[in-house]
Amino acid sequence: MRLLIKNIARIYTPESQLSYGQIKEYNDVHVLAEDGIITDILPATNPLPAADQSVDGSGKTLLPGFIDPHTHPVFWKTREDEFIMRVQGKSYEEIAEAGGGIRNSVRRFREASKDELKEITRERLSYFPRFGVTTIEAKSGYGLSTKDEVKALEIITELNEEVSLDLVPTFLGAHEVPDEFQENRRGYIDLLKNEMIPLVAERKLAQYCDVFCEQGVFTVEESREILQTAQKFGLQSRVHADELSAFGGAEMAAEVGAQTADHLVKISDLGIQKMAEKGVIPVLLPGTTFFLGKDEYAPARKMLAAGCEVALSTDFNPGSSTTQNLQLIWTIAALKLKMLPEEILWATTLTAACSLSLDKRIGSVEVGKQADLVLLDIPNLNYLPYHYGINHTMVTIKNGEVIFRRDSKY
Ligand code: NIG
Ligand code: FE
Repeated sequence: MRLLIKNIARIYTPESQLSYGQIKEYNDVHVLAEDGIITDILPATNPLPAADQSVDGSGKTLLPGFIDPHTHPVFWKTREDEFIMRVQGKSYEEIAEAGGGIRNSVRRFREASKDELKEITRERLSYFPRFGVTTIEAKSGYGLSTKDEVKALEIITELNEEVSLDLVPTFLGAHEVPDEFQENRRGYIDLLKNEMIPLVAERKLAQYCDVFCEQGVFTVEESREILQTAQKFGLQSRVHADELSAFGGAEMAAEVGAQTADHLVKISDLGIQKMAEKGVIPVLLPGTTFFLGKDEYAPARKMLAAGCEVALSTDFNPGSSTTQNLQLIWTIAALKLKMLPEEILWATTLTAACSLSLDKRIGSVEVGKQADLVLLDIPNLNYLPYHYGINHTMVTIKNGEVIFRRDSKY
């Protein structure tokens, strides 16, 4: 199967041999993909190569398909009531302490059948390609019992076979301490270590293990214990770290050799230094800070200055960030993290791929890479975050196949 994207006005892409924030630009080219792999990027003055299917790129901009490296898509009911409570002045932490937040989603999740959850998750996942996203990391974490966490991970595994985008599964059994273990948190940690992690690993239901390391959730010591147990079973580490307080999560992530530490709004200077030394990738989620109505954002510029290569994500979940539009995150990252479009392009493509160990295969427009691409109706890269809150995607291509197409603008 040969796919031709013809007369593309411009391509912007990171490349592995360039440094972070440097991009390659092509003008007036055709891109040819064969059996899902990019085989040629040739001047548009060349005769049109033969193809089974063609897409018109005239006037459009081609980027690597976006990669969203931190999402929580398997949940049941939405939580707009808590959103209004926040509008009225309650904080996310106060709502969580009163039994709302993640534990609210856990109670609801357990009431739903696997089929119901799978159906609603399938519907939600269909939004990602519409916004140009071709790969996401997807976490469990609203089940918090062996049966319900397995249910979430089975849904992710099964949907990965069915839907057009790729899902990378992460076990987040340590998202919260569920209601029935509130008086016995040790009991829940033992359950995670002795039952859930071994089972998830044995059934190959996840590639990563994540922990919400935060004041009132899991301590640094507990998080380390859980992540190191998971590592023994072959699950690599990602950490929800230093989101609401400077808690030592980033330092711990560096110590255990985590692949990423995520959120990092309150990260200490020492945490930044240790992450840079160990090459832990910061996955920043400025949409969450925005949606929680907070004013302090992650110190992205400090991390970049220290040599960290930053990735960006929506954090799509029913509580703290409900957007699936990574293009909106571009705008928030530009304004609030002071990241430039060239850096944001890396952060949402090749660096995001790196954070999932997929950078050899996806994340850039290069011959030999998988044809995961997005064609946008933008005249230049700066325009993407500038014209904000809308969807610029015209065509999304996954593995050399068109998975989303829109003929009219917006
Ligand atoms: O990444 N921080 C923890 N987990 C999610 C929030 C989940 C929820 O509120 O349901 C996050 O922001
Ligand atoms: Fe999260």
